[in-house]
Amino acid sequence: MLTFLKKVIMMIDIHAHILPSLDDGPRTFQESLEMCRIASEDGIRKMVATPHILNGIYDVKKKDILEKVEILNKLLKDNKIELEVLPGADVHLHEGIIEGLKKDEILTINNGRRYLLLEFPSQIIPVEARQVVFKLQVAGILPIISHPERNFAIQDNPELLTKFIEIGALLQVTAQSVTGEFGSREKKCAHWLLKHNMVHVLATDAHSINARPPILSIAVKKASKLLGEEKSRALVFENPLAIIEGRELRV
Ligand SMILES: [Fe+2]
Repeated sequence: MLTFLKKVIMMIDIHAHILPSLDDGPRTFQESLEMCRIASEDGIRKMVATPHILNGIYDVKKKDILEKVEILNKLLKDNKIELEVLPGADVHLHEGIIEGLKKDEILTINNGRRYLLLEFPSQIIPVEARQVVFKLQVAGILPIISHPERNFAIQDNPELLTKFIEIGALLQVTAQSVTGEFGSREKKCAHWLLKHNMVHVLATDAHSINARPPILSIAVKKASKLLGEEKSRALVFENPLAIIEGRELRV
């Protein structure tokens, strides 16, 4: 592990598909546990479980997420893995978000009704995106746009994101985009956003043991070369800590 990460007591990952049989993440609790072991060994001590919601493919209920988080935490204790899993969701941009929140059907991060992980489609920014972000703000919920660096329109023009940041949205960039494992366009965009101080959180968006494991430390090392240690540490500790505790983020 990096020497400066030893100073960080712990890292916090706010985006991980860690619960089994809900989406395209692990299929069994055994796989979930193996992913958790990798995360813990990397220095991650808290992780928000964020199954896909409202993406038209997976019909995941809040109740199922809460139940599986409880089971996984018990297994982590039994297996002496130093990691706590918190409830959340990776919420696809959808007109039904506000209604779903009103009905208490959609999970915010750590069920705190303060921050919501918001996923755009991969190719475009839909025309209604800014309005959804605005409506969430009015409802007192701050959206964190997940992995904008993987969106084709944003890769072509990352400055498009300023109009979302201006109205209070935060940005979460994925660790493997920073390291280049997603590809050169994702890496270029991620580094551009980091250099322009537009990134608020780094997260793994982990899906499996091999293809997208829950590892943050390598991306933090890369980010520290671009931003320095203090700012890169904030992306995996101070900022995600404020988010899971529902506190205001100093940006
Ligand atoms: Fe995700």
